[in-house]
Order: sequence, then structure tokens, then C-alpha cells
Amino acid sequence: MTKKPKAKTVLVLHGPNLNLLGTREPEIYGRETLATIDRRLHATAKAAGVKLESFQTNHEGAIIDRVQQAKGDGVGFILLNPAAFTYSSIGLRDALTAVQIPFIEVHLSNIHAREPWRAHSHFTAVAIGSILGLGSRGYDLALDYAIARLKAR
Ligand code: DQA
Repeated sequence: MTKKPKAKTVLVLHGPNLNLLGTREPEIYGRETLATIDRRLHATAKAAGVKLESFQTNHEGAIIDRVQQAKGDGVGFILLNPAAFTYSSIGLRDALTAVQIPFIEVHLSNIHAREPWRAHSHFTAVAIGSILGLGSRGYDLALDYAIARLKAR
């Protein structure tokens, strides 16, 4: 019997409006573009011998489809910034629990230190953990964890 290869791909999912990073409220979200962040994550993953895919969309159905597809694609870990879907998308949360791929929730800003309605996330309770308020460094820290976890399996 051939053994199934272990999933060694990290999928980074960026929700709505994160394509505007760099120019979008830089005092809150910083001046780095999404392309810069993704490039750095790709380089870190490559150096660690792990495959990384990143995907940004402004469309709820598209991000749900991407999560459903992830299982068959050999994704072993997800880094998710749900952005505004944090507050609205039960569909995305259900997709994540359906595929049972562990994930870290990342937010550039500290959602607890902003408008009160930003504080409650639909994802926190089903994530492995959350990283908030550390700017784009949050993605790097989450990726370090994902790499260590995938390598430990
Ligand atoms: C965000 C925080 C959310 O409240 C907001 O809707 C975003 C970005 C962050 O990364 O800080 O779009 O997820």
C-alpha cells in the first residue's frame, strides 16, 4: 500500500479590501503592500522547504470555494485574515470547520482596541490561535508556527 504524502502546503487567505494595503488607512494597516507581504511569506516558506499559496478576494463565495478546494490540494495549514468577513461570514467559518484544516486568525490591527463591533470575531473560537495588532509581522509569526507544525508531523 502506498502511503499518502503528508500535506506540506500553507495557504494564506486574505479577505476583502486587503488588496488595498499600502494605501488603505496606512495609520491603521501600515504602508506595506499585500504583494510585499506575500513575497516575504513565500521566501520564508521556500527556505523552510514548505509550499505556500496565497489568495486574496473581495468575494465571500470565492474564499469559501478556496477553503473547500484546499483539502484536495494538500493544504495542511491556513493563515487567515478574514478582514470584514470576520463579522459576517458564517459560511466561511463553516467551510473551515468542514475541511478540518487547522488555521491561525491574523489581523494587522488590534480589533479589540477599535470600534466595539470589531471585537467579536466568528473565527476565534475555531482557530488554533489568533494574532492581533502586530501589523504584517503577525503573518510572519503565524507562518513560523505553521512551518514548525507541518514539519513536526
Ligand atoms: C482587519 C481588521 C478588520 O476589522 C477589518 O475589517 C479589516 C482588516 C485587520 O487586519 O486588522 O479589513 O482584519
